[in-house]
Amino acid sequence: MVEYGSALAAGPGPRPGEVWLVGAGPGDPGLLTLRAAEGLRNADLVLYDALPGRAVLRLVRPGAELVPVGKRKGAAPVSQAEINARLIAGARAGLRVVRLKGGDPFVFGRGGEEAQALAAEGIPWRVVPGVSAGMAAPAAAGIPLTHRGVASAVTFVTGHDEAGGLPGSVDWAALARSGGTIAAFMALTRLDEIALRLLANGRSPETPVAVVANASLPGQVTLRTTLGACTLAVRRAALPAPALVVIGEVAGLALAPDATEEAQATAAV
Ligand SMILES: C[S@@+](CC[C@H](N)C(=O)[O-])C[C@H]1O[C@@H](n2cnc3c(N)ncnc32)[C@H](O)[C@@H]1O
Repeated sequence: MVEYGSALAAGPGPRPGEVWLVGAGPGDPGLLTLRAAEGLRNADLVLYDALPGRAVLRLVRPGAELVPVGKRKGAAPVSQAEINARLIAGARAGLRVVRLKGGDPFVFGRGGEEAQALAAEGIPWRVVPGVSAGMAAPAAAGIPLTHRGVASAVTFVTGHDEAGGLPGSVDWAALARSGGTIAAFMALTRLDEIALRLLANGRSPETPVAVVANASLPGQVTLRTTLGACTLAVRRAALPAPALVVIGEVAGLALAPDATEEAQATAAV
């Protein structure tokens, strides 16, 4: 089957009655795409997650409605069904709607589910890809995800499923054998299990691991450790969230301009 056309958003912003699923990138507003900024400037209603920062939200025009729907301390979580309903109602009211998400909407962001819910109701939608933390966090620490002669494959994986456990659909043994880079989202709480599975399936305890927290934000911090030592090192370091875990030989490359300072900071924790 040949498909023509594109799901990518186009134009100066959503049309009335249209929803744009917009990626906000990892936090630094400089990493927002021009299309995302246009969408925000021209929206009537913006439903946003917890991760996009204030600087990004400042692009929204005065008078537009800004609705937080991400996890917030002390507030009841907004269910996915409620978010879908709100998006659909906004579009049906003829509003230009933006659904703003951290990173990329289609990478562990439930953007796909929202697109399906909109399509099921006949609501037109488009997507604005964002710079995923899967790429931005390693880059922010000076770590290339692939590197000639070092890593020829990369896998994005989530560290927990809806129930909070390790996702059963991930073949950790195959991942261990692949020898490529693993970029693990939402993995800090399950890092002990992830490390055990990779070690049990043949990855060396000396495999470099980097944990990049608050990537691209002022509080960015990188912990460099190894697969054998990462569980303890992470516990001791008490890193802030959000954080991305990079596992593989590339995590041992110290290409960051301030890598020496990083190493010293790491040694101190
Ligand atoms: C629900 S997922 C959303 C991922 C997002 N859609 C993306 O493409 O980056 C949230 C996870 O992304 C990672 N993450 C998001 N922003 C980050 C940042 N600035 N620094 C490090 N990790 C980040 C963390 O692993 C966090 O737990």
